Amino acid sequence: MNNEKKAAAIKSLEYIEHDCVLGVGTGSTVNYLISELHQVKHKIKLITSSSEASTALLEEQGFTTDDLSSVGTPDLYIDGADEITKNFHMIKGGGGALTREKIIAHASNQFICIVDNSKLVDVLGSFPLPIEVIPMAKSMVSREIAILGGQAELRHGFTTDNGNLILDVHNLKIIDPPLLEKKINNLPGVVTNGIFALRSADVIIIGTGDQTETIEND
Ligand code: A5P
Repeated sequence: MNNEKKAAAIKSLEYIEHDCVLGVGTGSTVNYLISELHQVKHKIKLITSSSEASTALLEEQGFTTDDLSSVGTPDLYIDGADEITKNFHMIKGGGGALTREKIIAHASNQFICIVDNSKLVDVLGSFPLPIEVIPMAKSMVSREIAILGGQAELRHGFTTDNGNLILDVHNLKIIDPPLLEKKINNLPGVVTNGIFALRSADVIIIGTGDQTETIEND
């Protein structure tokens, strides 16, 4: 699995062109990208990341990161996913960075999702859906989620980079990802949820063994 993550990460370097304004995501797959990013350092003009963890790793590699507001529109956002379908819809947020990831994904011209083969699914929802909530809303949002058929579980001992909580929702079969993404985001107290369908990926790079398969959304 790790060689698949690494193969997908290395393949994504081919999409980085000269003077690139790059958004970097979060997670173990992206960590492979960060370790290989020195190969294309000369092509990167500005760089922003979706978490304190990725920022720290980038700085260890000699990159200076800027916040999204000062870099403007990233040409490219490269990030992993917890599940992805061939319709380019994803569940993200296993690492809890979903809100910043969604903001950078929305701001970017192109979103490349790098995954190992195990992440490819027909229907989203086996992976518990993360929802970032304002702390005082956690019980109310959990009750609303129960009405939608899911069981929300508080991620104990975890606070997001934005100072909020994560509910992981089990047993949702996500048949219409854009609709459910909107419905959950409409609940007061929800910062955002981990369905990435309204802004889906443009390219999926899947590691399969030591090879990769690329699917582009035309
Ligand atoms: C972080 O919050 C997530 O959205 C990650 O992008 C996702 O969990 C994929 O992580 P891995 O690359 O570690 O599987």
